[in-house]
Amino acid sequence: MSIDIIIGAQWGDEGKGRITDLLAAETEIVGRYSGGDNAGHTVTVNGEVFKLHLIPSGIVHNNVTCLIGNGTVINPAVLLQEMDALTARGVDVSPRRLKISLNAHLITPAHIAMDKAHEADRGADAIGTTQRGIGPAYTDKTERSGLRAELFAEPEALADAIQLHVAAKNRVLTAVFGADPLDADVIAAEFAGYAKRLAPHLVNGPVYLDQALQDGRSILAEGAQGTLLDIDHGTYPFVTSSSPTVGGVITGLGVGPKHIGRIIGVAKAFTSRVGSGPFPCELEGEMAEWLRGTGDKPWDEFGTTTGRPRRVGWLDLVMLRHAVRINSLTEIMLTKLDILSGLPHINVCIAYEMNGKRVDYFPTNLDQLGQCQPIFETLPGWEEDIMDARKLSDLPENAQKYIAYVSESLGVPITYASVGPGRVQGVFVK
Ligand code: IMP
Repeated sequence: MSIDIIIGAQWGDEGKGRITDLLAAETEIVGRYSGGDNAGHTVTVNGEVFKLHLIPSGIVHNNVTCLIGNGTVINPAVLLQEMDALTARGVDVSPRRLKISLNAHLITPAHIAMDKAHEADRGADAIGTTQRGIGPAYTDKTERSGLRAELFAEPEALADAIQLHVAAKNRVLTAVFGADPLDADVIAAEFAGYAKRLAPHLVNGPVYLDQALQDGRSILAEGAQGTLLDIDHGTYPFVTSSSPTVGGVITGLGVGPKHIGRIIGVAKAFTSRVGSGPFPCELEGEMAEWLRGTGDKPWDEFGTTTGRPRRVGWLDLVMLRHAVRINSLTEIMLTKLDILSGLPHINVCIAYEMNGKRVDYFPTNLDQLGQCQPIFETLPGWEEDIMDARKLSDLPENAQKYIAYVSESLGVPITYASVGPGRVQGVFVK
């Protein structure tokens, strides 16, 4: 058996949760490999909306076991809230169905305080983080002072580690940022409670997945964020602190590359971004309002985690080619094709112009990217509402041509296009 991978091909918010939900019906295990509760995955099942941040979207399928992998950072308070909310809606989140890798790292209130303090300190240069403590938790991981989930199984070691951790962060919070110190005893007591509830969920992630592969069980790796938010391959420093790209799957779940099967890039039919940083195809005004939608429309473009309005723009094929290259994408699944209905013309960015020269690759140097102007190809749009389309031939000719154009330009097949928020609202392209 192999591991199929879902990767965000843009700046996150591509609709990975709904694609995971779609594929989870034929999968036995879904593993999250990177990020934390900075992610927001929305799944709509029979009109019921589930918004998940940490727990893999596969959880809404009874047949699926979910693993929060070692590459993630976990805020246990958020995880437990999410588990309780799912339980209240009749979803089983017992240790049989929800597993946590021993080597995943923990986010504490001290990480969140550091995230907020750093962002405030950056002033006009703020990254626009989700302020969930993601960066400071990954910093501690690489600095080798992080707290791992394995501590939930060792109450005394956990209490000691929290004391040391909070004391270290308090030194920085008070001396560098002039903030109030945090109470280590309060945090240690909170974490003792989390440990009792979460310890039964701990597993050795790589051993668990290896056994699953040997048993012939199917595995789906669920990504968070997106390729352009990758710490190495994104628009640094306006990125997250992990690897939401294909390399992050291998390290973040502890599986070798020989097991990888499909590598599915998820991309919106347009582009969006939350937070600061360059965005060559960004739109303002009426067209931006159209793509963003407003709160009463099913497609409203507001961050699931932060509620911030997303910045929006036309589809950027230069960026998607970068995602295809970095991740060896074997296919792309498009989301939100329905949002383009009603537009007389649709622009697609095919290259950039930088200082009078045509550029076909995505520069990750911010100054260069800031100088890039999009070169558009204008395609004819379609009038019809496509939300009821269930097969390719149900789509208007121009929508089919749009899919074919994007696929040919990228050199990878587009295998699916979603036409509405519901699980059934999509078209498989064969
Ligand atoms: P952080 O991950 O909270 O440190 O935020 C760093 C950058 O990544 C900010 O621009 C965030 O808006 C962005 N970001 C983090 N997670 C997501 C996500 O799930 N979707 C979209 N943007 C995200």
